[in-house]
This record gives sequence, C-alpha cells and structure tokens, in this order.
Amino acid sequence: MASRTEKPLSEVIEQRRDTPSFDGAPISDADLKEILDAGLKMPSGFNLQPWRFVVVRTPELQRKLRAACFNQPNVEEASVVIVACGDKDGWRGDMEEMIRMGRESGMTENYAESARAIIPEFVSSHPNLSAWLNRHVMIAFTAMMLMAETLGYDTSSTEGYDSEKICQVLNLPISYEVVALLGIGRLRGPDKYNGGRFSMQRTVFEGEYGKPIKL
Ligand SMILES: Cc1cc2nc3c(=O)[nH]c(=O)nc-3n(C[C@H](O)[C@H](O)[C@H](O)COP(=O)(O)O)c2cc1C
Repeated sequence: MASRTEKPLSEVIEQRRDTPSFDGAPISDADLKEILDAGLKMPSGFNLQPWRFVVVRTPELQRKLRAACFNQPNVEEASVVIVACGDKDGWRGDMEEMIRMGRESGMTENYAESARAIIPEFVSSHPNLSAWLNRHVMIAFTAMMLMAETLGYDTSSTEGYDSEKICQVLNLPISYEVVALLGIGRLRGPDKYNGGRFSMQRTVFEGEYGKPIKL
C-alpha cells in the first residue's frame, strides 16, 4: 500500500466539525472501502451486526435523498452518502452465519447451542427493537465517521429526514429502519463554528448521580 498520512485520532476528535458544504470531489474506492470496513469491524450484542448501509454516490440519487432530507444541501454535495440502517429481521438469516464464523475461530459448541436458544427469544421479545438497532448502527456509523476524518475527509451527519421517503428512494425492505445519513467529502468554504461541549462537571458523575468526578 502506498504510504500516506493519517490524522491522529486525538486531532480528529478535537477538530472534526459537521460539514455545512462539500465540494463534491470524488472519493476513491479504496478509501470508501476502508471507511466502510471500519464500521463493519465494530462490536455488537451477540456479534449479530444488525446494521445495513446503503452507499449513494450518483447525482440523481443524491438529489432525491436531499429532497427526502428537507432539502439539506450537504446531502447532495457530498462525494458519497452512507445511509445507515438497522434490519429488525436480519438476525433470522444472520444467526447461523455468526455462529459458523465463531465456530471457525474458537466459539465452543456449548456457546453455539445456547446462542441458538437465547437469541430468537431475546430479539423477538425485546421491548424496544428500534433502540436496540440504533445503538448498534450508531457505533458502526461513528467508526466510519472517524475513519473518514482520519483519512483527511470531512463529514456530516443527518437525522433530519423523512424516513418513508428515504425507504421509497432506496427501495428498502419493510424490516429496515433508517438511523442516520453520513455525508463524506471535502469541505467547501468556511467550516462550521465550534459550538463547544458541556463541561465534565455537568455530564459526568462518579459513583452516584450528582457527584461530579474530580480529574
Ligand atoms: C446523529 C446526528 C444527526 C445530525 N443531523 C443533522 C441534521 O439533520 N442537520 C444538520 O444541519 N445537522 C445535523 N447534525 C449536526 C449537529 O448539529 C452537529 O454535529 C452539532 O451541532 C455539533 O457540531 P459539530 O459536529 O460541528 O461539533 C447531526 C449530528 C448528529 C451526530
């Protein structure tokens, strides 16, 4: 692989801003693959990986997506948009594949048998499958965002969309839930202001609620 410079994660975390406008320059397949792979390598409960991603990188589809996102321009301007979804029914087809891969690399027969017994019950009686999907999809989404920024791209996140319209545009199965859209490309014009973050005093407790952590 050719040598290249990656931004350190600490710099990415400090400097990343949500990109208001992209220049539309194309992204290489190699970089896109690396970004997608970062998400697919993330952990999930039972290793069930209920995430699904639709990659959109044609002007026509991006125009339609923009319309489904309340006309937010960065959805059309990005070099690529990754529509991050969760599949409520994915486990039905994926459980045996997850077990097959696990068995190849150290999962015991005992664990495999209990997974076969527990997973269908766990998922089908889950009180909030949307929340379950969301937590997994957003881990993978965040890894893709950070990998893209590490490779020198700029990113935008979108939760302002009409879910039904996106499902129509992308022809998504009924079991899919759209979670968020990740735009990737190069910033055009000035970056967004840094809105700052709440202090640790306000958001992190130690031991019990209300007791600020002292670091
Ligand atoms: C999951 C998620 C969804 C978002 N959706 C939108 C959106 O639909 N439209 C928008 O303008 N910004 C959206 N944002 C960007 C946030 O407003 C932005 O991240 C936040 O103000 C903090 O700014 P920063 O990312 O530049 O630090 C979203 C961010 C996240 C993480």
